[in-house]
Amino acid sequence: MDKKKIIWIAGGSTGIGRATAIEFIKNGWTVIINARNKDNLRILKDHTLKLNLEGVLYTFECDNREKNDLARMISNIEESIGAIDIAMLNAGTTHPYSDDFNLEYYNHVVKTNILSTLNCIDAVYPFFKNRKSGHISIVSSMVGFRGLPRGSAYTMTKAALINLAESLNFDLKKIGIRVSLINPGFIKTPLTDKNTFPMPFLKSPEYAAEKIYNGLIKSKKFEIIFPYSWFIIMKTLRILPYRIYFYIVKKFTGL
Ligand SMILES: NC(=O)c1ccc[n+]([C@@H]2O[C@H](COP(=O)([O-])OP(=O)(O)OC[C@H]3O[C@@H](n4cnc5c(N)ncnc54)[C@H](OP(=O)(O)O)[C@@H]3O)[C@@H](O)[C@H]2O)c1
Repeated sequence: MDKKKIIWIAGGSTGIGRATAIEFIKNGWTVIINARNKDNLRILKDHTLKLNLEGVLYTFECDNREKNDLARMISNIEESIGAIDIAMLNAGTTHPYSDDFNLEYYNHVVKTNILSTLNCIDAVYPFFKNRKSGHISIVSSMVGFRGLPRGSAYTMTKAALINLAESLNFDLKKIGIRVSLINPGFIKTPLTDKNTFPMPFLKSPEYAAEKIYNGLIKSKKFEIIFPYSWFIIMKTLRILPYRIYFYIVKKFTGL
């Protein structure tokens, strides 16, 4: 019998990662999830066991900011569970801009969103390179297209991830590794539950999971982007000249 395909969702015990894990398990995949909060990992594990699905879930308590722990975890997975086919780098955090510039907030968001993503790539890269295969999918966001009021810590890290994915797509494709970019709009998760502003076209994590599954498995596109209505608006805002862009955003957000 063919080996079950393996996806590692780095930072995925809640929200989009959790729903995506369930979608892949339903489709017969072996799913590896790591996160820091072991209670959330246990709740997810119990939930998937109850659903009695075709695939399997393995959970690991591991912080993506800890490069050595992460590398050890991946070596352990490759040796004892099997070769990872897809690495979906999903961990993310945010901090709204307060009334003062606060370097600590930036450090925190940069460490989780950018440096942790690099740690994850570093952990799987030697295995993917050896096999001349594998798929690295980086979770960014449409808000990374342009700077937004009160979102600078988050939006700048998401812009960096978009740029990272675009650049790696050139470099890694040559050695057989697929790179893709996931750009969701607003999805209702513990992360966005903290937002106090209106979130247009807000969708459920299950909606996001289905789009991500289809994008990663059924399509060969570089960018997996949803929902469509928000995608049209954000792609248009992305190409506007600064003067018009600043005017529109100020007018609609009042900030
Ligand atoms: N929700 C949206 O509207 C939206 C839109 C666009 C993009 N995104 C992106 O989608 C991704 C998932 O977000 P979400 O909305 O699903 O948020 P979420 O429910 O808060 O999920 C974030 C996940 O990342 C894990 N995590 C955070 N820091 C970690 C670390 N240092 N090491 C390991 N795991 C870590 C969290 O678990 P622990 O805290 O237990 O570690 C949690 O499982 C993020 O990258 C986010 O920026 C979300």
